[in-house]
Amino acid sequence: MMQVAGKTGAVLRIDLRAIRDNYRLLQGLLGAGQCGAAVKADAYGLGVVPVAQALLRESCRHFFVAHLEEAIFLRPHLPTEAQIYVMHGSPVGYEAEFLENNCIPVLNSIDQIIFWQQLAAKIQRRLPAIVQFDTGMARMGLSASEADQLFGKPELLDGIEVQYLMSHLASAEDQSNPMNQQQLLAFNALRSRMPGCKASLANSSGIFLGKDFHFDLARPGAALYGVAPVTGQANPLKPVAHLQGRIIQTREIPAGTGVGYGSTWRSTQTSRIATVAVGYADGWMRSLSNRGIAHIAGHAVPMVGNVSMDTITLDVSALAATHLQPGALVDLISADNTVDQVAARAGTIGYEILTSLGGRYERN
Ligand SMILES: Cc1ncc(COP(=O)(O)O)c(C=O)c1O
Repeated sequence: MMQVAGKTGAVLRIDLRAIRDNYRLLQGLLGAGQCGAAVKADAYGLGVVPVAQALLRESCRHFFVAHLEEAIFLRPHLPTEAQIYVMHGSPVGYEAEFLENNCIPVLNSIDQIIFWQQLAAKIQRRLPAIVQFDTGMARMGLSASEADQLFGKPELLDGIEVQYLMSHLASAEDQSNPMNQQQLLAFNALRSRMPGCKASLANSSGIFLGKDFHFDLARPGAALYGVAPVTGQANPLKPVAHLQGRIIQTREIPAGTGVGYGSTWRSTQTSRIATVAVGYADGWMRSLSNRGIAHIAGHAVPMVGNVSMDTITLDVSALAATHLQPGALVDLISADNTVDQVAARAGTIGYEILTSLGGRYERN
């Protein structure tokens, strides 16, 4: 009798101890510099509250989110002395909420600096901020000409307590990329124009570029969550996310049977197919169609056919029926098939796999 055995199609286990171990490893590399944490996007999909609380226990006191809304959500779960930096700055019209929630903006333009300065003047209080410079991504932060404007008119920062000068590396995971040194040079040139100010440059991969990149505060995200920081090198971080999908049906099919939407895979012999209750609505990307693998009792089995919204199909012909009962769990992200390996098969990066992980999983 075919019975569905679990309320959810999959179980996502998040190893908070591994996150703490990863934090300690990164903090160890940084020496005197502080290790902060990028916890934006719900801590890369892993759950910002338990992740931040695990990091707090390792003495992490600097948390980076992208949006004010993320900061408002996180604030009640952190002690007052823990800083929350909002990387997109303080949105116009929400100043009161920004201040009430004790947030610190990353100021990315002259306009944002003026806005913050005017707010400081209005409430007659010095306001903390990070000032970000673009040193080679053309994405966020003051451009070279805006930097000239700022340094030519230092009164723009009156009333602002600049906690850090910040920039972001474009290609830090590729250690041989000359951009790393170019960005470092540009960043140091900017720092020399505001001597004595603390600085923050490194993301996860930046920490592995060596101590010239460390400065006073690092902002790792991916490495805390187990993603490999250096292309082509063994990953020194512990895996954090473990995903298991549930078998809901198995069937025998004769040779020549098409599987899934579009029949993009067809059996060449009598085969056994297991249907697992995870699909692209759960972040199991459609690009894994006919490319992904799963592990059952330690055996690698191929995903065959297209990924559906709620299901994937595996060719389990090589496995004994005892491993294939409805309700049995198959490994989708595991030590044998890491986030980075899944990403490579899906044609993306580990970050996207993690941040796509669905809301329908049982989460432990
Ligand atoms: C400005 C900034 N700092 C730090 C990070 C964390 O980067 P990573 O996850 O590569 O460590 C990000 C992530 O996108 C970022 O945009």
